[in-house]
Amino acid sequence: METQIWSACLGLLVFVYLLAKTLQRRKLNLPPGPKPWPVIGNLNLIGSLPHKSLHELAQKYGPLIHLQFGSCPVVVGSSAEMAKVILKTMDVNFSCRPQTAAGKYTTYNYSDMTWSPYGPYLKQARKMCLTELFSAKRLESYEYIRVEEINSMIKKPVQSLGSTRFAEGIYVHSDPERDQPHGSGEEVPGQRQRERGGFAGGVQENAGRADLSERGDQRGGCDSLAQFLGFAGARRKSVEGYVSRDMVDVLLEQAEDPTLEVKMERHNVKALTQDLLAGGTESSAVTVEWAMSEILKKPKILKKATEELDRVIGQNKWVQEKDMSNLPYIEAIVKETMRLHPVAPLLMPRRTREDCKVAGYDIKKGTQVFVNTWTIGTDPSLWENPTEFNPERFIENAIDAKGHHFEFLPFGSGRRMCPAYSLGMKVIQSSLANLLHGFNWKLPNRMQPEDLNMDEVFGLSCPRKIPLVAVVEPRLPPEVYNL
Ligand code: HEM
Repeated sequence: METQIWSACLGLLVFVYLLAKTLQRRKLNLPPGPKPWPVIGNLNLIGSLPHKSLHELAQKYGPLIHLQFGSCPVVVGSSAEMAKVILKTMDVNFSCRPQTAAGKYTTYNYSDMTWSPYGPYLKQARKMCLTELFSAKRLESYEYIRVEEINSMIKKPVQSLGSTRFAEGIYVHSDPERDQPHGSGEEVPGQRQRERGGFAGGVQENAGRADLSERGDQRGGCDSLAQFLGFAGARRKSVEGYVSRDMVDVLLEQAEDPTLEVKMERHNVKALTQDLLAGGTESSAVTVEWAMSEILKKPKILKKATEELDRVIGQNKWVQEKDMSNLPYIEAIVKETMRLHPVAPLLMPRRTREDCKVAGYDIKKGTQVFVNTWTIGTDPSLWENPTEFNPERFIENAIDAKGHHFEFLPFGSGRRMCPAYSLGMKVIQSSLANLLHGFNWKLPNRMQPEDLNMDEVFGLSCPRKIPLVAVVEPRLPPEVYNL
């Protein structure tokens, strides 16, 4: 009997709660969206590629939609106009990040930049990035590290040429007859789906080292962030008047600044270093891998790119960063890759700080907000033949990736835009340019371009589902490879 009474009370409570929620929902003029189920809300509509699921919903409900992810209200902007409102006009209100358990436990209680809430610490960290870590002068001072790493990336395929084996990063050998099939879903020996390795693994390894530490091999034996920072700190203290040589040095130097408004503790330095590692590796590697995939599908683009490289750089040297302004076609390939394969197709989630109105609709405080840059980047009202990979569209076109053009937002925009935009561009452009300049690229085993699998997986970034495997052979005189 007692159990029945308790069950009835519980049922009544749930009923009153759901009724209150429904009435509250009715009173608010929420953006359109599918009706949520109790408990799960609309999570049943989100598949393994959330940007594609949200794209479908935007086609049905419009450029601003309201959803419920469990108990969490969610708003998604899917047009250039909505992106502008969220990331520019009302940016201050949309500048928080949701406080997830993942953010809490992986970033020392939101001590990094990516997951920290909007406030004095974030402002200080972003200012530090702008004026110190990623200033033009600093980036120039770390260029020697990027050069070393690009050289080591180039050396790997060269060293393994002719030996028919899986190189550490890229599958290379000189005999295409002996290549393994891949690309349509078959597994390539040694390269299971999205294990690090494969093409991006090789680039990532290099991108990760570039700028972060003076020499990757000096970190040998450091198996944790704490150990690594201990090593970097000891190196700084070992010489009087030590001059910072890489990003970690600069970070440690900044942390010691007694005039800082928000004091930087050890966990802040660790969390920020983690941001640099995460941001500085995966994103560039994944973009270069997508660029090579698209190029391998369209040999005409490869031909045009190498013609530009031969004309501007010549056959006797490698591409340097200062050459990039004379390589508009390579830049156009990079931008076109970022349009069709944005590293963060939904940007990073934001959270509203206050109730607000967008396009006449109510958005409650604490709502999680996404901007679907994939939908915007493939919007037929903004882009002709939007799903076609066509770098020409970026030639003699003023659109850049600096967050001012809301139809193209690979680095986001506004107060939470990627602080390392220029470093990211430098790494991607010079890696891609040198890979194209130094080697002829082919698909393995007489594979046809249309057989190359272009599936993606959604996670912290959006890489290829199956790592790219390609056959390379040198295209420059042998002495150029003596790096
Ligand atoms: C290929 C290059 C890169 C791409 C495409 C990229 C893209 C992005 C995007 C889309 C965001 C979210 C922006 C938003 O929420 O509006 C972001 C944030 C961020 N990126 Fe990057 N990124 C790249 C390279 C880097 C590099 C090299 C670093 C550091 C070394 C970095 C560090 C960060 C950090 C710390 C944030 C969080 C900023 C904040 O929340 O205030 N990124 N990036």
